[in-house]
Amino acid sequence: MCHGGACPPTPAMARGHPVRSETVKQIRVGLLGCGNVGAAFVGLLERQRATIAARTGVELNISRVAVRSLSRDRDVVLPPDVFTTDSRGVVEDPDIDIVIEVIGGIEPARELVLRSIELGKPVITGNKELLANHGAELFARADESGVDLLFEAAVGGGIPLVRSLRESLLGEPVTRVMGIVNGTTNFILTRMAEDGVSYADALVEAQSLGYAERDPTADVEGYDAGAKAAIIATIVFGSVVVAGDVYREGISGITAHDIDTAKRLGYVIKAVAVVEGTPAPDDHTPPEVAVRAHPAMVPVGHPLASVRDSFNAVFIEGDAVGNLMLYGRGAGGLPTASAVLGDLIDAAVNLSSGGTGRIGRLSRARIRSIDDLESAYYLSMEVSDQPGVLAQVATEFGRFGVSIKSMEQQELGAAARLIFITHVSKESDVRSTLRALRELDVVKDFHALIRVIDEN
Ligand SMILES: NC(=O)c1ccc[n+]([C@@H]2O[C@H](COP(=O)([O-])OP(=O)(O)OC[C@H]3O[C@@H](n4cnc5c(N)ncnc54)[C@H](OP(=O)(O)O)[C@@H]3O)[C@@H](O)[C@H]2O)c1
Repeated sequence: MCHGGACPPTPAMARGHPVRSETVKQIRVGLLGCGNVGAAFVGLLERQRATIAARTGVELNISRVAVRSLSRDRDVVLPPDVFTTDSRGVVEDPDIDIVIEVIGGIEPARELVLRSIELGKPVITGNKELLANHGAELFARADESGVDLLFEAAVGGGIPLVRSLRESLLGEPVTRVMGIVNGTTNFILTRMAEDGVSYADALVEAQSLGYAERDPTADVEGYDAGAKAAIIATIVFGSVVVAGDVYREGISGITAHDIDTAKRLGYVIKAVAVVEGTPAPDDHTPPEVAVRAHPAMVPVGHPLASVRDSFNAVFIEGDAVGNLMLYGRGAGGLPTASAVLGDLIDAAVNLSSGGTGRIGRLSRARIRSIDDLESAYYLSMEVSDQPGVLAQVATEFGRFGVSIKSMEQQELGAAARLIFITHVSKESDVRSTLRALRELDVVKDFHALIRVIDEN
């Protein structure tokens, strides 16, 4: 209970009850990085500072900013003397209360975040690469030190996903989270599906619009989505999942033919990150978690199918809440800055009230192998156009217990294309079928194996 004087702000205040001006506490922020996100954050905080102070009782001021180059032109309203190239000096400055890391990459970001935690300073980061590879170490240190480590911006940019999962859905028996979490690949697949643009042209367009990097590997080969899937799984199941645990496939092998066939069959091809768990058998055993990032055929009626262009969305399935979806801008300076600012307010309010919003002690997750996945599958192959071929192919499906839901044949001159959708089957059985089919003389080429998402 707080008697008179300057009471620390409470979460209720943070939700919009104005506080008296004499309770306003100054919080000094050290910003590491002032690129796309950092610069947008500086502008957003400038715009919102007074409102935040009135609502929460904390006034947020950027005291120091670490960058790589002091000579770079920056569109930010900060005095030149706040800039430095000494990022460690910013973290260790006794006048800095909270550190924001928007440098990116592993080092020096990891070392700076750890040092900040060691000094008892809350850290906000948008660095998915860092969390997906070193989350276990960082979360453990933050937990031991009782320091906030907040990372809303690391998944889904401006979409308030992490807070929704960590707070609103903390008690929810979440069974599956499935997201379109990479705007670049969603843009490319949308252009291919809606405008008949080739993969190569759509990629060039994404690069010219600034959606894709010059080296697009992290996006198109699923590394970015895989890192985000690892972070989502860690939050949802309260046990650490790292990037190396994630089964990953990219979209670079998806052809115009796959996209057209999907459309004809009532699906849209999307690059999805999927996280599924089975409840822990007891309090001492961590849950078994399946985490993957790959292209999938999503039924046109599924809410994720209508997520177009560079937008992101995350579809959450819970036993109690049912299905819900969060949708928005998954990247971009301002949307990401919005997530960083939300975290900063949380950390500042926690700091002034003596609390933390840490995620607690996390065990290491047990990871379910992709071989054990049960899904429907789309398979497309080229075969010799001669009598008896279909029977040979069907025999191999039957041999491994993979049941065919639908099949169609397209003439290709001397050859034919066979397209199958299977009933729900085990991934290991489908892969055994594939291996056996490749051994057949009549199978000339194998085009695609794409997982099919169930209707919801
Ligand atoms: N951009 C997005 O849409 C987005 C979305 C979600 C999450 N994120 C994450 O947010 C983080 C930042 O992304 P960004 O797009 O803002 O990156 P960015 O534009 O490349 O900016 C990076 C900033 O860090 C500075 N920097 C780099 N190395 C440094 C070092 N050793 N010491 C001090 N400063 C250093 C750079 O300085 P100079 O300015 O002098 O070069 C630059 O200001 C990344 O972790 C990214 O994954 C970004």
